[in-house]
Amino acid sequence: MNECIKEMEHYAEANNVPIIEKDSIEFINKYIKLNDVKTVLEIGTAIGYSAIMMAKEKKDLEIVTIERDDKRYREAIKNIKQCELDDQIEVVFNDALDANLAGYKFDLIFIDGAKSSYIKYFDKFRYYLNDNGAIITDNLAFHGLVENKDLIESKNVQGLVNKIENYIEYLKENEEFITKFFDIGDGLSVSYKTSNENIQGIN
Ligand SMILES: C[S@@+](CC[C@H](N)C(=O)[O-])C[C@H]1O[C@@H](n2cnc3c(N)ncnc32)[C@H](O)[C@@H]1O
Repeated sequence: MNECIKEMEHYAEANNVPIIEKDSIEFINKYIKLNDVKTVLEIGTAIGYSAIMMAKEKKDLEIVTIERDDKRYREAIKNIKQCELDDQIEVVFNDALDANLAGYKFDLIFIDGAKSSYIKYFDKFRYYLNDNGAIITDNLAFHGLVENKDLIESKNVQGLVNKIENYIEYLKENEEFITKFFDIGDGLSVSYKTSNENIQGIN
């Protein structure tokens, strides 16, 4: 298993594939254990790294993960097989905004797709969340640029930073969910329904 994970880390670095930071996946895995999460939906598989890091920590965890890039999807399928976790992880090849997951419900939804679509993902997938579930979103600091806008060098990046700021505002104003923000990894948030009083590991 360790060899399989190391290989993925090398591949990601060599091919410029963004994968989750160590602190962030540790936080998520702690959340999964403390809340006995059994089902996860991930938006943005890339090469399967974060899904594998979650699945290997909890044998009864089932993950559905969505990837729209063909090359990354195929790499993820290969990696998941190689790590012998294909009984726990199902990879869907589609744009998350077009995917139909009717009938599915999840204890945890992990948003890690295109930053420009965070609000759309949240709006669509919150209906797939169990009442005691949570939505975790990654990259809210966007490599520190959300707090240090003077470092932004292109209009494109400025546009993405604006979208992330809009998303943060959207979460803060959302009356159905309470959101806590964490300065961990590249910045992440945990959003849970106001009715969910038993959530663990976010204080
Ligand atoms: C930050 S990477 C995901 C990293 C992965 N979760 C990990 O930590 O190992 C984002 C991925 O989301 C994919 N993506 C972006 N928008 C998407 C969408 N709307 N539907 C499905 N996949 C999407 C990209 O192709 C990219 O591979």
